[in-house]
Amino acid sequence: MDIKKLIYKNPALSGDYPEFNIEDAPDHPVDIFYEWFEHAVDRKVSEPAAFVFSTVDASGHPSARIVNLRDMDGEGFIIGSNSESRKGLDMENNKNVSMTFYWREVGRQIRITGQVEIVSEEENRRDFIKRNKTSKALSIIAKQSSKLDSMNELDREMESAAKLVENDEEAYKTWTLYKVNPENMEFFQARKDLAHIRLNYEKVNGEWQKYLLWP
Ligand SMILES: Cc1cc2nc3c(=O)[nH]c(=O)nc-3n(C[C@H](O)[C@H](O)[C@H](O)COP(=O)(O)O)c2cc1C
Repeated sequence: MDIKKLIYKNPALSGDYPEFNIEDAPDHPVDIFYEWFEHAVDRKVSEPAAFVFSTVDASGHPSARIVNLRDMDGEGFIIGSNSESRKGLDMENNKNVSMTFYWREVGRQIRITGQVEIVSEEENRRDFIKRNKTSKALSIIAKQSSKLDSMNELDREMESAAKLVENDEEAYKTWTLYKVNPENMEFFQARKDLAHIRLNYEKVNGEWQKYLLWP
């Protein structure tokens, strides 16, 4: 297989993109986030809540994976995960994280960096109760990112965890909501002529400052 040829035949950033009027850009980056999210939903972007979530471990090694945005709390981005997973342990050691949304259908990328904090126990509990049975069972097993010997082992553990879900809807241990408080947010709008727009918002002494970046 000639991968280079396949890549060349399927170029990135070649769609029909919306306008991004930077003169009208709001002073607060979360306002653009809401605007772009709503627009992505209207344009039927596939899975707009899924994004790349990057963490760094205690020795400085990065790792990234897809997670779903669950909610917003003022300026904060809420995600849910297992506190004993790789990302959970990373966040225990290093609060610096990054989030990257890519909405291919509209040529938009949003990059966010900030620090995480754990959301209150009460909210964790409320969120856990709303999860579906399979997600609850996985949370109860609480082994995300540990080595799994076989898919049979997963099936066995899911079966016994399913019983716990029936009996005790609060039987969660490690399901944790995290809030990312943004310190930098960059909005990238692809353009056909490749003069892509990058509008960056940086928090300086508690105030958001915005400026353009070279594409
Ligand atoms: C579309 C999609 C959404 C996902 N959403 C979440 C999520 O919200 N929370 C989560 O812990 N894992 C989610 N995952 C699984 C993660 O990508 C990852 O496999 C898992 O969290 C273990 O990551 P870790 O070993 O780096 O901690 C999602 C995966 C996909 C493909």
